[in-house]
Amino acid sequence: MRASMYDALYAGRTPIGAQAPWDIGRLQPAFAELVAAQRITGEILDAGCGTGELALELARYGHAVTGIDISAVAIERARAGAAETGVPVEFVVGDALTLSGFDDRFDTVVDCGLFDVCPPAEQAGYVAALHRSCRPGATVFMLELGAEATRAVLAGLVELGLPARAFEHLPRLVPADLTAAFATGWQTLALAESTMMVRLPGVREQTAVPAIYAEFRKS
Ligand SMILES: C[S@@+](CC[C@H](N)C(=O)[O-])C[C@H]1O[C@@H](n2cnc3c(N)ncnc32)[C@H](O)[C@@H]1O
Repeated sequence: MRASMYDALYAGRTPIGAQAPWDIGRLQPAFAELVAAQRITGEILDAGCGTGELALELARYGHAVTGIDISAVAIERARAGAAETGVPVEFVVGDALTLSGFDDRFDTVVDCGLFDVCPPAEQAGYVAALHRSCRPGATVFMLELGAEATRAVLAGLVELGLPARAFEHLPRLVPADLTAAFATGWQTLALAESTMMVRLPGVREQTAVPAIYAEFRKS
């Protein structure tokens, strides 16, 4: 999806209303566990940070955090959250698939739902950008919607009137797509079935849908 579509989603200018399906107002449980276990440390990048809940929580632990998102509306909300809480986070409007200007900078990257919206043709470039921006030994933690959940979310969005063509390029991920993308220059530390909480279009309660959890270390 283009930046304008994400801006429209975050601004509530689509038929789904004020909150995007992934905007659950708290950390994804899988990331909450990682934060509580203090596994996310050092100089941190939140790639596709959205409205910044995870980045802000990590900064509360005293880490230096950069959050990058292509949506200016999301970053505006993230900056407002930082101002309100007094927690310092560098929130940047930019393309996380290229990460220009961040060479050799991060010890840890968190990606909660960015790879799963990254078009297959751009996945290799994204992983190369991560490799460039990570220090040796850095860890990438990922939680991504699997194929089945992506189909369910997108079907709901289209039913509510969003154009199907806006989602045509999105991947339908299986775990092997992740290990293939990180096959060179990375070691796979973990690959597991997990769940992600989402607001399924038209469903009032938040729903746990199947997701893929992965950890990779830069060799
Ligand atoms: C599924 S949402 C997840 C947001 C956030 N990580 C969360 O868990 O709430 C995907 C996010 O990636 C952002 N995004 C999509 N393509 C991007 C790109 N090329 N560079 C940076 N951000 C991007 C979107 O604007 C959106 O905020």
